[in-house]
Amino acid sequence: ETINLNIEKALGKGAKEQLLSAAPKAEDAIKTLHKGNGKGNDFLGWLHLPSSISETELSDIEAAAKQLKDRCEIVVAIGIGGSYLGAKAVLEALSNTFIQMQTKQSAPLVLFAGQNIGEDYLYELQHILQNRQFGLINISKSGTTTEPALAFRLLKKQLEDQVGKNEAKNRIIAITDASKGALRKLADKEGYKTFIIPDNVGGRFSVLTPVGLLPIAVAGYDIRQLVKGAVAMENKCGENVPFTENPAAVYAATRNILYKAGKKIEILVNFNPKLHFFAEWWKQLYGESEGKDHLGIYPASVDFTTDLHSMGQWIQDGERTIFETVLSVKKMKYKVEIPADEENLDGLNFLAGKRVDEVNKMAELGTQIAHVDGGVPNLKIEIPEITEYYLGQLIYFFEKACGISGYILGVNPFDQPGVEAYKKNMFALLGKPGYEAETKAIKAKL
Ligand code: PA5
Repeated sequence: ETINLNIEKALGKGAKEQLLSAAPKAEDAIKTLHKGNGKGNDFLGWLHLPSSISETELSDIEAAAKQLKDRCEIVVAIGIGGSYLGAKAVLEALSNTFIQMQTKQSAPLVLFAGQNIGEDYLYELQHILQNRQFGLINISKSGTTTEPALAFRLLKKQLEDQVGKNEAKNRIIAITDASKGALRKLADKEGYKTFIIPDNVGGRFSVLTPVGLLPIAVAGYDIRQLVKGAVAMENKCGENVPFTENPAAVYAATRNILYKAGKKIEILVNFNPKLHFFAEWWKQLYGESEGKDHLGIYPASVDFTTDLHSMGQWIQDGERTIFETVLSVKKMKYKVEIPADEENLDGLNFLAGKRVDEVNKMAELGTQIAHVDGGVPNLKIEIPEITEYYLGQLIYFFEKACGISGYILGVNPFDQPGVEAYKKNMFALLGKPGYEAETKAIKAKL
């Protein structure tokens, strides 16, 4: 079984014709991706990544995960952007929502740091790590990103103070470039176990490298199933699959048709709170890949039914510049039945004997009808259930569609020049050596 893209409610009248006329551009984009002769073509390592992960690589990751599992109750994965969101998305989707309240853990609890510069966040993290057996996975492709470097400096010191420098080395794993960057230098100098992020895989496309796979394995999830799912999708969205049968091509084409028709915002919707961070990963993937040259759909997200009581009003009735892509999960992992109540004071006996998910599914259907009636095109991605295997499919599906979509739009989906502006200003304001001229210039603006 595979995830399924349903666009019946996306394009309205003349849907078939619209799609067919968009097909050649999508097909060209696929050809360009596979030939490797388009913009950003030195970052196409993700394209055949799932099918090229070797047994040795997987066992090496599993062995490193075991080393941390054997020693730690908590492992902090340090990273930001693409070095953070993939693992966070998969772990939130697979884990018990209340995992942090559970006293008995079968695998280390994976926490995150380096994804912000919150002083209180770091203080509180340091506080809960006191007197706990913890380890660190430090992830930075460039090896020079400020946020994770700062968090690592703090937590490395804490770990060394708690267990000594020698034992700390057994509990720190670095994932970075093969030769460049401060983290590579530091890891080599300290003698940490390291994993390499391939040169040709950009951060936001790196969840199926050790960047995502190691934290996911540490938390006790099956990375082989995740990769297997991605391989299945790599085949389903392959170069020679006809356009209408290639879900990544159809998704990319549909969202670009909508964009051209004035739908400038795509809202990724879930009806399952476990997918909240999957949407965060998706937002980075599409936002950072397409938002450039003053172009690009703005990727937004909502959690329903929660946000039906907040953003629902805007979506139903606000400016008609949006469309929705719904992540629809067919089968729940657990069963909760609604009990009958003799007095029926809450008036809910009409639901007695039904599963909670039946109510959720009717909320989903009702919302779809209401939003389509209200002028919001609706795409649906049906996911059989939330497992490693289907998450792997979903990840590759969105990556492939992102590459295609970026090329349809005409941008380089694999760079992120806009991210540098804030860094330059921050360094200038902080007086980083080498930024003297920028410091002077920015101070004049204040
Ligand atoms: O997708 C990207 O390239 C970025 O979001 C990076 O992942 C992010 O900036 C972190 O970079 P690095 O891994 O070099 O620390």
